Amino acid sequence: MPVGIDDLAIYVPKLYVDCNDFAKARGIDPHKLEYGIGIRKMAIVDVNQDPACMAANACLKLMEKNGLQPQDIGRMYVATESGLDESKAMNSFVIGMLEQVYGEGSFEHAGGIECKFACVSGSYALYDNANWIRAEENNGKAAVVIVSDIAKYDIGSTAEYTQGAGAVAMLIKENPRLLAFDQKVTSTIITNEYDFYRPFGKETPLVNGNYSNLLYLIQVRKAFDSYKEKALRYGLIDLKDGESITDHIDLISVHLPYGRMGEKALAYLLRHEWRNLPRWKEVIREVGIEEPTPRDPRGTIESILADTEFMKADEKFRKLFMQTALYHEAFEKKMASSLKASELIGNLYTASMYMGFRSSLEFEYKRGTDLNGKRVGFGSYGSGSSAMVFSGVIQPSYKEIVSAMNLEEEIGTRMKVSMDEYEGLHRGIGRGLFDSINHSNKEFVLIKIGGKLTKKAGLREYVYTT
Ligand code: CAA
Repeated sequence: MPVGIDDLAIYVPKLYVDCNDFAKARGIDPHKLEYGIGIRKMAIVDVNQDPACMAANACLKLMEKNGLQPQDIGRMYVATESGLDESKAMNSFVIGMLEQVYGEGSFEHAGGIECKFACVSGSYALYDNANWIRAEENNGKAAVVIVSDIAKYDIGSTAEYTQGAGAVAMLIKENPRLLAFDQKVTSTIITNEYDFYRPFGKETPLVNGNYSNLLYLIQVRKAFDSYKEKALRYGLIDLKDGESITDHIDLISVHLPYGRMGEKALAYLLRHEWRNLPRWKEVIREVGIEEPTPRDPRGTIESILADTEFMKADEKFRKLFMQTALYHEAFEKKMASSLKASELIGNLYTASMYMGFRSSLEFEYKRGTDLNGKRVGFGSYGSGSSAMVFSGVIQPSYKEIVSAMNLEEEIGTRMKVSMDEYEGLHRGIGRGLFDSINHSNKEFVLIKIGGKLTKKAGLREYVYTT
């Protein structure tokens, strides 16, 4: 029985920072942001928004567009790394909001938890819920997985231009209209790392930028090796002489902390996959230099990063590799369309890869690609760290969903904020909950947070604006 993503809906906050304004304020070349990072507009939340109301807004859209009632949903998981409470799960806030629309107690029959593992937890949530349905524990009901986050870094840091905010809600069902997951090939890797983490009570993460970039590449590649081994063993993919398994994956969606990271991940993966194939000769001919190797190929990430001679040579090789005809063709066919949303919204942590997947569906369809039967490979990464690689096949009925996709329309009219307004929102000064910049319409917003010294400390109240 095929199980997978039947439909998805997105919510993106209506405020954004224009990256030209940002570059000017920080004294950065705007080209660096547009081409070096891959960002033009960064979505930011208003004073009366948090990850729970973004999650509820995405879920309400998903339910309305599919005519779903709470009784149709047996499980709701919310994956986030922007948790609001050390104990109370974000889905309980979300259910509280949805019950304002569907009636008190209307979700009581359902179950679910909040999931955390940096940006990868949404993928674990999808996997667990797909298996809940495969195990026929679902009683004919669907599952909803919502990924929702606010990517917020310190002002003035080199990560500040990789912020963003938004949520994606996915409907998981048997016989899905959009994408059926491939079975038995999902592969994970997990280790204890401090590449990016946010200690209790701290609003912004501690980031080891270059370390996190390299770790991401290595972890996804290792999970991919395990995926490959399973895909061949179970006969999901049959390799002929000279072929790479990536030749059999039509679209690739990876975690996108920023768009350029997706391109780098694809380059890293293809170098790994093509290195021992006949086509590598053509690559080397075009690149014009041999691929460098680190002084200690079995070294740690620290020792590789400290090997500055290798790092410099490798960066040069990577950049030349990314200009070869073979890389360019693979990038254009498999990944380019998944980066379009990231450019307009920014980092969504847990939601980044799924916004990228949605972006690739819409923009591939718009450029006339027949998506029926196409295999999508997912490379999900969460700092700390874990990677999950899995795949799925686009179903014959995909057009029902994809033909109606319109990113700009679904985001809605947005308002550019000035750098002063952005910094005020970032620092949480100058505005109260009722002094939002945008006047929300037909969405959930936050109206009250119980004061720290009161009996209702941490209690959050939301309302659906009309
Ligand atoms: N024009 C065009 N490009 C330019 C340029 C210009 N004028 N100036 C610089 N660039 C390019 C650089 O060449 C570089 O390109 P490559 O990546 O292809 O080499 C790119 O812009 C980035 O520039 P820097 O190498 O100088 O990097 P930076 O100091 O701006 O920092 C970062 C980048 C490390 C990603 C930083 O933003 C950061 O720490 N971000 C947060 C951590 C992160 O996102 N890590 C990703 C992996 S971990 C993860 O994915 C989990 C998660 O969600 C956080």
